[in-house]
Amino acid sequence: MRYLVLSDIHSNIEALCAVLAHAARKRRDAVLFLGDAVGYGAAPNQVIERLRRLRPAVIAVRGNHDRVVLDPDRGAAFFNPHARRAALWTADALAAANRRYLEAVPPGPRTVEPGLAICHGSPADEDAYLFSEHEAHDAFAGTDAGIAFFGHSHVPCMFEQTHEDGHESLVGVLLRGSRVVVDLDRTRRYLINPGSVGQPRDHDPRAAYAMYDSEARRLTLYRIAYNVEGARRRILAAGLPHLLAERLVHGA
Ligand SMILES: [Fe+2]
Repeated sequence: MRYLVLSDIHSNIEALCAVLAHAARKRRDAVLFLGDAVGYGAAPNQVIERLRRLRPAVIAVRGNHDRVVLDPDRGAAFFNPHARRAALWTADALAAANRRYLEAVPPGPRTVEPGLAICHGSPADEDAYLFSEHEAHDAFAGTDAGIAFFGHSHVPCMFEQTHEDGHESLVGVLLRGSRVVVDLDRTRRYLINPGSVGQPRDHDPRAAYAMYDSEARRLTLYRIAYNVEGARRRILAAGLPHLLAERLVHGA
Protein backbone atom coordinates (compact mmCIF):
# COMPACT_ATOMS: atom_id res chain seq x y z
CA MET A 1 0.00 0.00 0.00
CA ARG A 2 1.11 3.53 -0.74
CA TYR A 3 0.06 6.10 1.81
CA LEU A 4 -0.10 9.86 1.73
CA VAL A 5 0.49 10.92 5.37
CA LEU A 6 -0.72 14.30 6.63
CA SER A 7 -0.70 15.77 10.13
CA ASP A 8 -1.48 19.00 12.02
CA ILE A 9 -3.08 21.06 9.24
CA HIS A 10 -4.44 23.57 11.78
CA SER A 11 -6.93 25.39 9.55
CA ASN A 12 -4.21 26.35 7.06
CA ILE A 13 -5.87 25.91 3.66
CA GLU A 14 -2.98 27.54 1.79
CA ALA A 15 -0.55 24.90 3.11
CA LEU A 16 -2.97 22.01 2.56
CA CYS A 17 -3.62 23.01 -1.06
CA ALA A 18 0.12 23.27 -1.76
CA VAL A 19 0.75 19.83 -0.27
CA LEU A 20 -2.10 18.20 -2.19
CA ALA A 21 -0.96 19.81 -5.44
CA HIS A 22 2.59 18.55 -4.84
CA ALA A 23 1.36 15.04 -3.99
CA ALA A 24 -1.23 14.88 -6.79
CA ARG A 25 0.92 12.93 -9.23
CA LYS A 26 2.20 10.41 -6.69
CA ARG A 27 0.24 7.16 -6.67
CA ARG A 28 -1.59 6.55 -3.40
CA ASP A 29 -3.87 3.80 -2.15
CA ALA A 30 -4.91 5.59 1.04
CA VAL A 31 -4.66 8.93 2.83
CA LEU A 32 -3.75 8.96 6.53
CA PHE A 33 -4.39 11.97 8.75
CA LEU A 34 -2.88 12.16 12.24
CA GLY A 35 -5.16 14.83 13.71
CA ASP A 36 -5.49 18.58 14.35
CA ALA A 37 -7.41 19.58 11.24
CA VAL A 38 -8.35 22.79 13.04
CA GLY A 39 -7.10 25.22 15.69
CA TYR A 40 -4.66 28.18 15.37
CA GLY A 41 -5.45 29.02 11.73
CA ALA A 42 -8.38 30.83 10.14
CA ALA A 43 -9.75 28.44 7.50
CA PRO A 44 -11.33 25.56 9.46
CA ASN A 45 -14.28 25.04 7.11
CA GLN A 46 -12.16 25.16 3.97
CA VAL A 47 -9.72 22.60 5.43
CA ILE A 48 -12.41 20.16 6.56
CA GLU A 49 -14.28 20.47 3.25
CA ARG A 50 -11.06 19.67 1.38
CA LEU A 51 -10.42 16.66 3.67
CA ARG A 52 -14.00 15.44 3.11
CA ARG A 53 -13.53 15.59 -0.66
CA LEU A 54 -10.17 13.78 -0.71
CA ARG A 55 -10.02 10.40 -2.46
CA PRO A 56 -9.36 7.76 -1.39
CA ALA A 57 -11.34 8.79 1.71
CA VAL A 58 -9.16 9.92 4.60
CA ILE A 59 -8.38 7.49 7.42
CA ALA A 60 -8.02 9.83 10.39
CA VAL A 61 -7.56 10.09 14.14
CA ARG A 62 -8.61 13.17 16.06
CA GLY A 63 -6.13 15.65 17.49
CA ASN A 64 -6.35 17.49 20.78
CA HIS A 65 -7.42 20.70 19.00
CA ASP A 66 -10.17 18.86 17.12
CA ARG A 67 -11.44 17.51 20.46
CA VAL A 68 -11.30 20.87 22.25
CA VAL A 69 -13.01 22.77 19.41
CA LEU A 70 -15.94 20.35 19.67
CA ASP A 71 -16.24 20.92 23.43
CA PRO A 72 -14.38 24.09 24.45
CA ASP A 73 -16.06 24.27 27.85
CA ARG A 74 -14.24 21.08 28.82
CA GLY A 75 -10.84 21.48 27.22
CA ALA A 76 -10.03 25.10 26.35
CA ALA A 77 -9.00 25.97 29.90
CA PHE A 78 -5.92 23.75 29.50
CA PHE A 79 -4.76 25.63 26.38
CA ASN A 80 -2.47 28.67 26.37
CA PRO A 81 -4.40 31.94 25.79
CA HIS A 82 -3.69 32.10 22.01
CA ALA A 83 -4.71 28.50 21.39
CA ARG A 84 -7.78 29.01 23.57
CA ARG A 85 -8.87 32.08 21.63
CA ALA A 86 -8.45 30.24 18.34
CA ALA A 87 -10.38 27.22 19.66
CA LEU A 88 -13.32 29.39 20.74
CA TRP A 89 -13.27 31.28 17.41
CA THR A 90 -13.20 27.96 15.52
CA ALA A 91 -16.06 26.50 17.58
CA ASP A 92 -18.15 29.51 16.50
CA ALA A 93 -17.06 29.43 12.87
CA LEU A 94 -17.54 25.71 12.16
CA ALA A 95 -20.38 24.84 9.77
CA ALA A 96 -22.71 22.07 10.99
CA ALA A 97 -21.61 19.50 8.39
CA ASN A 98 -17.95 20.09 9.20
CA ARG A 99 -18.62 19.77 12.90
CA ARG A 100 -20.31 16.43 12.23
CA TYR A 101 -17.27 15.29 10.24
CA LEU A 102 -14.95 16.13 13.14
CA GLU A 103 -17.26 14.43 15.63
CA ALA A 104 -17.02 11.20 13.65
CA VAL A 105 -13.21 11.08 13.71
CA PRO A 106 -12.11 8.55 16.38
CA PRO A 107 -9.28 8.95 18.87
CA GLY A 108 -6.10 7.00 18.13
CA PRO A 109 -4.36 4.71 18.01
CA ARG A 110 -5.93 3.20 14.92
CA THR A 111 -4.59 0.21 13.01
CA VAL A 112 -4.33 0.88 9.29
CA GLU A 113 -2.93 -2.49 8.20
CA PRO A 114 -1.25 -5.24 10.22
CA GLY A 115 1.80 -3.71 11.89
CA LEU A 116 0.96 -0.11 10.96
CA ALA A 117 -0.88 2.32 13.27
CA ILE A 118 -1.66 6.02 13.41
CA CYS A 119 -2.13 8.25 16.45
CA HIS A 120 -1.99 11.93 17.37
CA GLY A 121 0.41 12.43 20.29
CA SER A 122 1.60 8.95 21.15
CA PRO A 123 0.06 5.46 20.87
CA ALA A 124 -0.18 5.48 24.66
CA ASP A 125 -1.77 8.95 25.06
CA GLU A 126 -3.18 11.26 22.38
CA ASP A 127 -2.08 14.33 24.38
CA ALA A 128 1.53 13.22 25.01
CA TYR A 129 4.41 14.89 23.18
CA LEU A 130 7.20 12.71 21.82
CA PHE A 131 10.42 14.67 21.85
CA SER A 132 12.87 12.45 23.70
CA GLU A 133 13.97 8.85 23.54
CA HIS A 134 12.67 8.42 27.07
CA GLU A 135 9.20 9.50 25.95
CA ALA A 136 9.46 7.27 22.88
CA HIS A 137 10.21 4.26 25.11
CA ASP A 138 6.81 4.66 26.81
CA ALA A 139 5.13 5.26 23.46
CA PHE A 140 6.49 2.00 21.99
CA ALA A 141 5.05 0.20 25.01
CA GLY A 142 1.62 1.59 24.08
CA THR A 143 1.38 -0.27 20.77
CA ASP A 144 2.12 -3.62 19.16
CA ALA A 145 2.58 -1.98 15.79
CA GLY A 146 6.02 -2.15 14.22
CA ILE A 147 5.44 1.28 12.69
CA ALA A 148 3.31 4.06 14.14
CA PHE A 149 2.86 7.48 12.61
CA PHE A 150 2.29 10.29 15.09
CA GLY A 151 1.89 14.08 15.04
CA HIS A 152 1.23 16.73 17.73
CA SER A 153 4.81 18.03 18.12
CA HIS A 154 4.90 19.51 14.58
CA VAL A 155 8.54 18.36 14.23
CA PRO A 156 9.47 15.81 11.54
CA CYS A 157 11.41 13.10 13.30
CA MET A 158 11.78 9.36 13.78
CA PHE A 159 12.47 7.05 16.72
CA GLU A 160 13.99 3.67 15.90
CA GLN A 161 13.86 0.80 18.39
CA THR A 162 16.18 -2.20 18.12
CA HIS A 163 16.24 -5.33 20.29
CA GLU A 164 19.50 -7.25 20.44
CA ASP A 165 20.41 -9.93 23.00
CA GLY A 166 17.52 -8.82 25.19
CA HIS A 167 18.67 -5.19 25.20
CA GLU A 168 16.65 -2.33 23.80
CA SER A 169 18.35 0.50 22.00
CA LEU A 170 16.43 3.57 20.97
CA VAL A 171 17.60 6.34 18.67
CA GLY A 172 15.78 9.53 17.73
CA VAL A 173 16.62 11.58 14.63
CA LEU A 174 15.26 14.83 13.22
CA LEU A 175 14.27 14.55 9.57
CA ARG A 176 15.29 17.76 7.83
CA GLY A 177 15.49 18.70 4.17
CA SER A 178 13.37 19.22 1.05
CA ARG A 179 13.17 15.48 0.35
CA VAL A 180 14.32 12.84 2.83
CA VAL A 181 14.18 9.13 1.96
CA VAL A 182 14.39 6.50 4.71
CA ASP A 183 14.32 2.74 4.14
CA LEU A 184 12.85 1.07 7.22
CA ASP A 185 14.49 -2.10 8.53
CA ARG A 186 12.13 -5.08 8.89
CA THR A 187 13.69 -6.11 12.21
CA ARG A 188 13.20 -2.74 13.93
CA ARG A 189 10.25 -0.69 15.19
CA TYR A 190 9.58 2.92 14.32
CA LEU A 191 7.65 5.93 15.55
CA ILE A 192 7.53 8.50 12.75
CA ASN A 193 6.33 12.10 12.69
CA PRO A 194 5.86 13.41 9.12
CA GLY A 195 5.84 17.00 10.40
CA SER A 196 3.04 19.55 10.26
CA VAL A 197 1.23 20.63 7.10
CA GLY A 198 -0.03 23.91 8.50
CA GLN A 199 2.13 25.03 11.43
CA PRO A 200 5.73 23.72 11.26
CA ARG A 201 7.80 24.26 14.41
CA ASP A 202 11.29 23.17 13.37
CA HIS A 203 12.29 26.64 12.10
CA ASP A 204 11.60 25.62 8.50
CA PRO A 205 8.35 27.40 7.50
CA ARG A 206 7.63 25.07 4.59
CA ALA A 207 4.67 22.67 4.79
CA ALA A 208 5.62 19.07 5.63
CA TYR A 209 4.11 15.75 4.56
CA ALA A 210 5.17 12.16 3.86
CA MET A 211 4.57 9.30 1.46
CA TYR A 212 5.01 5.76 2.76
CA ASP A 213 5.17 2.56 0.71
CA SER A 214 4.46 -0.29 3.14
CA GLU A 215 5.61 -3.05 0.75
CA ALA A 216 8.96 -1.44 -0.04
CA ARG A 217 9.06 -0.03 3.53
CA ARG A 218 10.23 3.23 2.04
CA LEU A 219 9.37 6.54 3.70
CA THR A 220 9.79 9.84 1.86
CA LEU A 221 9.33 13.18 3.61
CA TYR A 222 8.82 16.42 1.71
CA ARG A 223 8.94 20.13 2.53
CA ILE A 224 6.90 22.38 0.27
CA ALA A 225 6.91 26.17 -0.03
CA TYR A 226 3.39 27.60 0.14
CA ASN A 227 1.58 30.93 0.35
CA VAL A 228 2.54 31.74 3.96
CA GLU A 229 1.57 35.38 3.45
CA GLY A 230 -1.98 34.36 2.47
CA ALA A 231 -2.37 32.20 5.58
CA ARG A 232 -0.85 34.94 7.74
CA ARG A 233 -3.21 37.64 6.41
CA ARG A 234 -6.21 35.39 6.83
CA ILE A 235 -5.38 34.93 10.54
CA LEU A 236 -5.00 38.69 11.05
CA ALA A 237 -8.22 39.44 9.12
CA ALA A 238 -10.10 37.00 11.38
CA GLY A 239 -8.93 38.95 14.42
CA LEU A 240 -6.95 36.01 15.79
CA PRO A 241 -3.75 36.66 17.81
CA HIS A 242 -0.86 38.16 15.81
CA LEU A 243 1.50 35.57 17.23
CA LEU A 244 -0.41 32.81 15.41
CA ALA A 245 0.16 34.66 12.13
CA GLU A 246 3.82 35.52 12.71
CA ARG A 247 4.90 32.05 13.80
CA LEU A 248 4.03 30.74 10.32
CA VAL A 249 6.66 33.06 8.84
CA HIS A 250 9.34 31.59 11.10
CA GLY A 251 8.16 28.01 11.24
CA ALA A 252 8.24 28.17 15.01
FE1 LIG B 1 -1.14 20.20 16.45
